[in-house]
Amino acid sequence: MIIAVDGPTASGKGTIAKALARHYGLPHLDTGLLYRAVGRQVFLDGGDPDDPGDALGATAFPDHLLDDPQLRDEQTGGLASRVSVHPAVRQALFERQRNFATQAGGAVLDGRDIGTVIAPEAQAKLFVTASVEARAQRRFLEMRERGAGVNLLEIQDDLRRRDERDRNRAVAPLVPADDARVIDTSALDREEAIAAAIEAVDLSMR
Ligand code: DC
Repeated sequence: MIIAVDGPTASGKGTIAKALARHYGLPHLDTGLLYRAVGRQVFLDGGDPDDPGDALGATAFPDHLLDDPQLRDEQTGGLASRVSVHPAVRQALFERQRNFATQAGGAVLDGRDIGTVIAPEAQAKLFVTASVEARAQRRFLEMRERGAGVNLLEIQDDLRRRDERDRNRAVAPLVPADDARVIDTSALDREEAIAAAIEAVDLSMR
């Protein structure tokens, strides 16, 4: 069984995907980390994330880069969003995601295009979303907890910019698959969101 969890940044899709993996006993891949590693590698190489050649070169990042704590920060998220518009970059990361999705026993993957491109045959597809305000507020609290100096309005602007880039790119844009179940987490806490996701997956399996 393949469970595809797509949605914008800070929608709660990562939390939900992890919880689903635990609940159903499946391995989990956060595909955003792959794009983040490419973005980070371009930065380390002194390259230009908007240049398709520089970005493609960075897809040969070493695996240990996936453990780099810097991968989670906002700057790397922005770089990831920029390198992810290049079709050659998406192609270079395709097989790794596809192999993970089709491993024996099943898997949970979260990202932007899992239900549409990576695993269109997934038995369960969730599209997790939330208002920009709710997502910015979560990100704000998360970052403040980590001791980062943050500004709520700047986070909102940044999320809007990233959403726009992810939704409007020519290849594999962020859109719900036709057969995805949409979960809006704006008014849900963590436990409620997880419960709604499990219910949606159970319904899809019937
Ligand atoms: O989910 P995230 O914030 O870690 O993703 C970072 C960026 O990577 C996101 O802005 C767009 C890109 N991405 C993508 O294009 N396709 C995916 N399956 C996952 C992430």
